[in-house]
Amino acid sequence: MPAPTDAVSTGETSLLRRACDIFVATFKRSATAAAAAPGRVNLIGDHVDYCEGYVLPVALPFLTVVVGAHNDTSSCRVVSVSDSGRQEATFPIPSSGQLKPGEPAWSNYVKGVVANFPGTVKGFDAVIVSDLPMGAGLSSSASVEVATFTLLEALAGSNVDPVKKAQLCQKAEHEFPGMPCGIMDQYIVTMGKKDHALLIDCRSLESTQVPIPHGDTGILVINTNVKHQLTGSEYPQRRAQCQKAAELLGFPSLRDATSEHVEDLKRRKCDLDVIRRAQHVVEEIRRTEECAKSLRVGDLERVGELFYESHETLRDLMEVSCPELDQLVAIAKTVDGVYGARMTGGGFGGSAVILVKNAAVEHLKRRILSEYKGTPTFLVAVPSDGARKLNI
Ligand code: GLA
Repeated sequence: MPAPTDAVSTGETSLLRRACDIFVATFKRSATAAAAAPGRVNLIGDHVDYCEGYVLPVALPFLTVVVGAHNDTSSCRVVSVSDSGRQEATFPIPSSGQLKPGEPAWSNYVKGVVANFPGTVKGFDAVIVSDLPMGAGLSSSASVEVATFTLLEALAGSNVDPVKKAQLCQKAEHEFPGMPCGIMDQYIVTMGKKDHALLIDCRSLESTQVPIPHGDTGILVINTNVKHQLTGSEYPQRRAQCQKAAELLGFPSLRDATSEHVEDLKRRKCDLDVIRRAQHVVEEIRRTEECAKSLRVGDLERVGELFYESHETLRDLMEVSCPELDQLVAIAKTVDGVYGARMTGGGFGGSAVILVKNAAVEHLKRRILSEYKGTPTFLVAVPSDGARKLNI
């Protein structure tokens, strides 16, 4: 029996069976289509996707599975079952002209996708199940969006270009839940590859696969189980400050900026927060490229150093960390066999990602369980595949 602090993925087959059973019990007939989409953990490159930088995420084995069938009405009826219980929502199809964001809040992730799906959406019933922890900074939102989109593709018998699909799901998140996210989450959730991280160029929207070395090292994710406000004012504010820095430098985004440009902002005595955000972005984009190179040649020591540097500038310059994440990283740093640790994703709570020798994992967990002030959950991040249609 695993300790309760370990989150173990349920697996596609079990989630699919559960979703199909709930569908039959709820709608008194069988689902005709099914889709799955994973969560993600970002190895490095945070708060740079909306500056057109580089990011290096992996898709997780933890999944959202959606099953559904057309219902010959002009409504969509959706049931969602997750760690926060069972919830239901009914809303009109887009062609009714009445599809708007609203309560219940979780349904906006589904509605946004339905509203942005290319082509006609006919009324459907759906059941969503997931073993992804919510609010852990592991992209449960993008997972629901991309899984829903993939179900609509299955129902419509269509295949949308994957980059276009990620962009439409990002647009859905901007318009319905109202979160001005970058492209990273929807991109990796759509296009993740087993055994690989994806180096995504958030300007060209091209990506290259970076093999994750097998063997004696693994990626451990630790969920702090705390969530400070992210969708409130903080994330949009960081995004606006980065945009301000780019404008001051005369660039479309900070992707074009160098450390010389940051010095220029300092000389011009620009707003201190704007300067700090720009410095993080410039350094983090460079680190992410270097990290991908180091991973390719198996230089895990260097990867680990870059993890720590990334955490420091996310904490001190971007100011998106929190005491719980800082404590996890500080503990990890003192454990033999840990290469590096950092907060991952949007921050303000959520999760840390740690590159660690397999032989050191149990010791690291024990240290964290005895010293971390909160209640952690451990997830082993085996790099997994992105979204797919499922056979039922
Ligand atoms: C959230 C957003 C992403 C990205 C990360 C930070 O997860 O959805 O677009 O900006 O924060 O890297």
